[in-house]
Amino acid sequence: MIPQPRENIGSISPYVPGKPIEEVRRELGLKGKIIKLASNENPLGPSKLAVKAIRKALKEINLYPDDGCYALGKRLSDHLGISENQLIFGNGSVDIIEFITKTFVAPGDQVVMADQAFIMYKIAAKMADARPVIVPLKNYTHDLESMAQAVTPQTKVVYIANPNNPTGTMVNHDQLSAFIKSVPESCVIVLDEAYSEYITRSDFPRSMELLKEHPNIIILHTFSKIYGLAGLRVGYGIGHPELIASVRKVRLPFNISLLSQAACLAALDDVKHLEHSRQVNDAGKEFLYRQFEKMTLLYVPSEGNFVLIDPELDSMEVFIRLQKRGIIIRPVKNYGLPTALRITVGTEKQNKKLVGSLKKILKEVRRSL
Ligand SMILES: Cc1ncc(COP(=O)(O)O)c(C=O)c1O
Repeated sequence: MIPQPRENIGSISPYVPGKPIEEVRRELGLKGKIIKLASNENPLGPSKLAVKAIRKALKEINLYPDDGCYALGKRLSDHLGISENQLIFGNGSVDIIEFITKTFVAPGDQVVMADQAFIMYKIAAKMADARPVIVPLKNYTHDLESMAQAVTPQTKVVYIANPNNPTGTMVNHDQLSAFIKSVPESCVIVLDEAYSEYITRSDFPRSMELLKEHPNIIILHTFSKIYGLAGLRVGYGIGHPELIASVRKVRLPFNISLLSQAACLAALDDVKHLEHSRQVNDAGKEFLYRQFEKMTLLYVPSEGNFVLIDPELDSMEVFIRLQKRGIIIRPVKNYGLPTALRITVGTEKQNKKLVGSLKKILKEVRRSL
């Protein structure tokens, strides 16, 4: 008999990523252009400054990267007005979710999270033989009152994705502040702000301010979304120096590659790319909303770079038909939303193509019922 995994590992449903373009091409034998609107990447691509920095750094890849990410840490800490020892870098922010779990969560502990929130929180808790405590969303939004009630002395970590993936909704400053006050300080509160650079609302939590008052917060950010560097895998966590010192102990050496460090440093200086990405996203969302309204298609207004739609049909059918037309989006059945799909906001051209195909497909599927 071959070795069997621990019980909790056996019970994990593996993370299902958005389908890569080349996989869809191979599977369906598609010849033309394929559009991927499945993983909330930046449709404008990476910053040109980042690409230039990678080219320059290429001749040094015989050397190990700076394990402490000194230059990137210095640049970010200046930008955020914190000290460098408040930062931890990960191979994507998912890496930091794993670090937090390894640092704070022991077998049998509880980890509180929303039902339809980033699925890695559940997986990470199970990896540690802990118990994920799942709280349903309310109106597609984190129900902070119920989450606070779910916290017990056994709760070691609480996750809040803000804005939330896959729904795009957010909790505001006052709501979050009240929640944090109601949770014991011994519990780590993770504020996952992977999409916060897209925010336009003025009541979005001022999490850096909250961090000054509450040393049990860790804020997560990523270079995978608005910075357009998902392929490089860099995320970072911000927290109290003592908390960060503990989390740093479980990080493996050299987890941020030399090319990634160079590119992220340059991307932080590319304010124009950031602004442009934000504008294209806002305009794209407005366009999609108007079109969805014309189609009487249910959607959830989003604070991120993606929109959740609910055609009230089998989402896999819609997904497969769109894929055949060269458009990859994301069914969210694995989030317990069997008729909903998540669409990343694309460029103007991509959004138009998506809407055109979606109109035809929804008609086809409804007719076939
Ligand atoms: C809410 C949220 N957190 C974290 C991540 C992971 O991002 P990264 O690429 O930095 O690992 C994602 C990715 O989709 C996300 O939606």
